[in-house]
Amino acid sequence: MQRVVQRVISYKYLPLNPSSLIEGAAIPFDCYIKRFGDYVIIIEAGTIISKNLLDKIDKNGVIYILKHDTEKLKVYREPYENGNEIILHGLHTEEMVDTVSKMSHMLSQINGLDEKLEVVYSVTSNLLEAIFNKKDEKLPLEAIQESATQLVEHVSIDVKTIHVMLNRMPTDYTTHNHSTNVAFLSVILGKALGLTKEALVEIAFAGLMHDIGKIRIDKEMLLKPGPLDEDEYELVKGHSDAGYGILLDNGITNQKILYGVRFHHEKLDGSGYPQGLRGKMISVFARILGICDVFDALTTKRTFRTNYTSFEALLLMKKEMNSQLDESYIDAFIRLLR
Ligand SMILES: [Fe+2]
Ligand SMILES: [Fe+2]
Repeated sequence: MQRVVQRVISYKYLPLNPSSLIEGAAIPFDCYIKRFGDYVIIIEAGTIISKNLLDKIDKNGVIYILKHDTEKLKVYREPYENGNEIILHGLHTEEMVDTVSKMSHMLSQINGLDEKLEVVYSVTSNLLEAIFNKKDEKLPLEAIQESATQLVEHVSIDVKTIHVMLNRMPTDYTTHNHSTNVAFLSVILGKALGLTKEALVEIAFAGLMHDIGKIRIDKEMLLKPGPLDEDEYELVKGHSDAGYGILLDNGITNQKILYGVRFHHEKLDGSGYPQGLRGKMISVFARILGICDVFDALTTKRTFRTNYTSFEALLLMKKEMNSQLDESYIDAFIRLLR
């Protein structure tokens, strides 16, 4: 059950709201649309964007650019940005929110399930990237909720879909991809455990937000090669309480989500943090998130080690972490991924 890293190269593409195109100006990068699973150039670099062209593109709802053209996008958009707004990694949070709001329209025009899943993953992870980069603690809750809803709608637990998902997940660690992965995995596990649809959307939301407290932590520390020293570790450990506080500040009152985020690093034997809770004191959501968090961390490359395969990760979790993680959930995961 290895992740096939090369299967999809689509995370090289970034969805872009067509309204980012500037009428009357030459575009310095190629733009793509998705057709039958492939990215097809719709506008070549150097083309002057006419009103006609804009109208035509708008019907498609979303276009894509290559991620490595982000700098060009930034320069292209710069004269049109106002004040302090900075384009971070290609997209404003506002633009991503707009793209998310078009997601159901985009999805209604796509036939294949894999394709739909691909759009949900891509839009969701780009939304989170914009949120994490902007470090604005005022969260676009509606967009996060829409992503969570679409995710539950499109993730199913048949073997094929799970394979597609695992293959789709990038193995390079970034907080936004990790959070997207944890949300997807939590929905898969939640579906296997028979959670209601409402609970699935809640767990998806919690998965997307479980590490939101990390927006308060220096990115360099998060990506530091090698182990953290004691002080740094203490700072990083603060992210679960910080995330809980950020969600409260944003008006989230759902306790399943709040406790899921706050306690996703608690361990059954009391060795976790922030409170050293034990056994059943740790909520179902926190236990689901905790398992998916460990699974994704192990199957992702880090600066100090390479990634485990899904099989190796589950074996390690089953054999060495069964006093810390809920074994019945690990078993459910193993049955699913078998
Ligand atoms: Fe975490
Ligand atoms: Fe995490």
